[in-house]
Amino acid sequence: MDQAQYRRVLGHFPTGVTVVTANGPDGPVGLSISSFTAVSLSPPLVGFLPAHTSWSWPMIRAAGWFCVNILAAGQEKIARLFATPGVDRFQDLNWQPAPYSGAPRLEGVVAWIDCEIEAVTVAGDHDFVLGRVHALHAESDEPPLLFHRSRYARGPQWPRDPA
Ligand SMILES: Cc1cc2nc3c(=O)[nH]c(=O)nc-3n(C[C@H](O)[C@H](O)[C@H](O)COP(=O)(O)O)c2cc1C
Repeated sequence: MDQAQYRRVLGHFPTGVTVVTANGPDGPVGLSISSFTAVSLSPPLVGFLPAHTSWSWPMIRAAGWFCVNILAAGQEKIARLFATPGVDRFQDLNWQPAPYSGAPRLEGVVAWIDCEIEAVTVAGDHDFVLGRVHALHAESDEPPLLFHRSRYARGPQWPRDPA
């Protein structure tokens, strides 16, 4: 398999951008994740795939709980920040603890989903993390941040639709 071709072709599938957060042993941790998906309605389950090379993922796993923050179109800087190694990602950010996990709920996100880790399965060079949803809320009408062919884009804006 040509890895460059794999990335290029799969990059044609557009996604949203999330930041998955948790309470680490020395404070909050989190990383940008586009491999987030709804999995099951009953029971309510979601999933995402962190790479085995991730620094934050072992701490999220140890916490046992995580919060998925769905970024708004204006939060491209946050998407880039949470994909930058070796920086204090929370230094200049406002956040509140999510109700069950206590994990950071970032200010200005379009929605957040507060989860408990239900199962972790090895999936090649990533893990597939299945999370049980304990609380969730759509915060705003802002259009979402999208990621497509290695570029960020602004999602559509719809009339108000309460959570
Ligand atoms: C838009 C976007 C989507 C990403 N999606 C994923 C993903 O689904 N899984 C993953 O492991 N890394 C993903 N990354 C890369 C991680 O965010 C990046 O490697 C980050 O530095 C990992 O942080 P960590 O080492 O602290 O865990 C994505 C990055 C960006 C910018």
